Amino acid sequence: MTQQASLLASRVGAGRADGGRRRRTVDPAHTGQVVAEVMLAEPATFVAACRAAREAQPGWAATPAPVRGRVVKHLGRLVEENREALARLVTREIGKPLAEARGEVQEIVDTCDFFAGEGRRLYGQTVPSEMPDKQLFTFRQPVGVAAVITAGNFPVAVPSWYLVPALLCGNAVVWKPAECAPATAEALAQLCWHAGLPDGVLNLVQAEGPATFEGLEAALDAGLVDKVGFTGSTEVGRRIGELCGRHLQVPCLELGGKNPLVVMPDADLDLAVEGALFSGFGTAGQRCTSLGTVIAHRAVHDEFLARFTAAVERAVIGDPFREVLYGPMIDRRFFDRFLGWLELVRPRHRVQGSTGTGRITAANPRRGFVGDPDDGLYCHPMVVSGVTADDELYRRETFGPIVGVAACDSLEEALALANGHGYGLSAAIYTRDPATAFRFRAGVSAGMVSVNNSTSGAEAHLPFGGNGRSGNGSRQSGIWVLDQFTRWQALNWDYAGRLQKAQMDVAEPTPDRDFRL
Ligand code: UN1
Repeated sequence: MTQQASLLASRVGAGRADGGRRRRTVDPAHTGQVVAEVMLAEPATFVAACRAAREAQPGWAATPAPVRGRVVKHLGRLVEENREALARLVTREIGKPLAEARGEVQEIVDTCDFFAGEGRRLYGQTVPSEMPDKQLFTFRQPVGVAAVITAGNFPVAVPSWYLVPALLCGNAVVWKPAECAPATAEALAQLCWHAGLPDGVLNLVQAEGPATFEGLEAALDAGLVDKVGFTGSTEVGRRIGELCGRHLQVPCLELGGKNPLVVMPDADLDLAVEGALFSGFGTAGQRCTSLGTVIAHRAVHDEFLARFTAAVERAVIGDPFREVLYGPMIDRRFFDRFLGWLELVRPRHRVQGSTGTGRITAANPRRGFVGDPDDGLYCHPMVVSGVTADDELYRRETFGPIVGVAACDSLEEALALANGHGYGLSAAIYTRDPATAFRFRAGVSAGMVSVNNSTSGAEAHLPFGGNGRSGNGSRQSGIWVLDQFTRWQALNWDYAGRLQKAQMDVAEPTPDRDFRL
């Protein structure tokens, strides 16, 4: 990728479409450097993209699934060949440290590896009938057109979780990526198109949220969308759920989290500190799976807090192209919002972890910072202790480098705190006792549970998703996402040559019910 800004537009069908307004995105580590200039689409462009997808979808669905799997395989190889360029673009556009960006790109490759093979499975079942000379079958049918709206914190991995299975299953897709990562989105879409997708099967719409919502509403009204996939905030997810509900559709929603990490008295404390450091501050705390609140048993609370605080103080923050725990915030919107969360800290809380709070600048420095803090959107890490269930900080997803620490006296209390805020995405427990681990697993509301591992860092082929305020129970990844992008069709085939009525014409064996040994 070149260092100069590229002018990006939506691609609908085979052509390029745009609206009137332009928006510039900047490198969050060097806010003076423009990364891309994008022409923002109007709602009508979104509708046109859905129409193009609708037209292209039957031809794509008629392409044999193993052939669609070959396209996915080519995509995986192309991503591998372009791994470094794509990772660097992610780092440049959203400020994710390069090592994490490489991991994010690997997640696309893993997803492609998994679904390339699925093209040769996509199994249905043969099912015995209750009558002779009759056979039952199930088939997976593509849903049709999927509209996919994704967030900026994982600008390529999470989109690939939607795009790859949706396409493999024979759907056409309209993808609206995050406003803050248009160049990264264009790069992934180009890789998809060059993998051999026919025109119109994947359409990219670069637009802002309100125009997208309006376009989506119009496209649903016109019967052009059959499935919506959305990764983003609980608030927007709720609105999308309402909109889809009006059309009797169930969207795939991947929303926020306030992910707990429980530390029990028998935990390996250094391991727990390492896990909390990565899950709390990796990606500057801007993962859906980022750690929200540590819930430490009172027997180890003070020791954990001391070691955790020391680790956060030691961590290197700064230039995302260097070896850092985290770099800048994804963009100014996240940065401004995060600084607003500082108001959630109450006088009775204790704030530790850095040499200052708020924005890192030359005047408000962070010890050991690498790079020029004034050039980017960097925030001090914060460890806030003394958090209780009454605090707004306990209830609110903060999406930034802040971790709360609460104390508990028992596993039951830990579970009450882990579930009490109503989110249910990811949860972790550190313990050496299998019974404690299994009781935690059974009692926690999260869709994903880690034992002696961080709340983030899910592997690409396990079900990913949450409950409650974190989602509507939909799951992405692995075989589980197939139920999002296909619908089961049941077939019964009677070759008896006469009408056999289910339930009524079924032979009944005659048992001897009085028999006793
Ligand atoms: C997200 O934050 O939306 O589990 C996805 C993880 C990553 C994906 C996070 N593999 O942290």
